[in-house]
Amino acid sequence: MAKTDSNDFLPLEWDIPTDAELKRNIENFRARMFTRRSVRAFSDREVDPAVLRKIVEVAASAPSGANKQPWFFAIVTDPGLKREIRTAAEAEEKEFYTRRAPHTWLEDLEPLGTSWEKPYLETAPALIVVFKRILENPDQAKRKNYYVTESVGIACGFLFAAIHMAGLVALPHTPSPMNFLSRILQRPAHEKPFLLVPVGHPAPGTQVPRLTKKSFDDIAQFF
Ligand SMILES: Cc1cc2nc3c(=O)[nH]c(=O)nc-3n(C[C@H](O)[C@H](O)[C@H](O)COP(=O)(O)O)c2cc1C
Repeated sequence: MAKTDSNDFLPLEWDIPTDAELKRNIENFRARMFTRRSVRAFSDREVDPAVLRKIVEVAASAPSGANKQPWFFAIVTDPGLKREIRTAAEAEEKEFYTRRAPHTWLEDLEPLGTSWEKPYLETAPALIVVFKRILENPDQAKRKNYYVTESVGIACGFLFAAIHMAGLVALPHTPSPMNFLSRILQRPAHEKPFLLVPVGHPAPGTQVPRLTKKSFDDIAQFF
């Protein structure tokens, strides 16, 4: 990349690890990440807003196309709003489970034990609603953000890692369609709901489906 006088560059702050440190770092991180599970039953224990804020700051530190940071995180802790979101989500989910979902989709969901009922949208102490920002500025319809879905997807990866490493649990939830989130949270038209993420502590005795992850050879190859 051409570095011109108008660029403002600074030295990268980086400690280069030894090979042993590298191995230890990734083994520790891998072991921690492998204990992450999607949780659908939360206790009502509160989470300090300062913790939620830091989690979102980690997500918002993610890389994004041309650094446009095309996201917005609504952190919902208000019980009335959570109830409204649950009611609207359950209406969509009921349609999905009873009418819209293809048979094969319902078959795939069977092992997860999910249904249209989403009590966790009220019991979880916080719902983080991630929006993608299609335009940089709502008044300039021609200035679209770049690689919005990729960028917001990466930010969500950071979000889930931050939630997990903080010691909290979460669920990526996608009631479809999600337009009701824009209405309830009064978000502008250039933002589209991307993911609904209940966050908190697991309810006592929470169980999760027994799942396996594909083997390395199934999903990757050295070239
Ligand atoms: C984009 C996305 C959307 C998802 N939507 C839902 C959802 O609407 N409801 C739900 O119960 N789980 C949802 N999940 C959770 C998946 O079912 C879960 O990640 C998968 O079964 C693997 O389980 P694990 O997260 O415990 O590894 C979603 C996950 C992703 C990544």
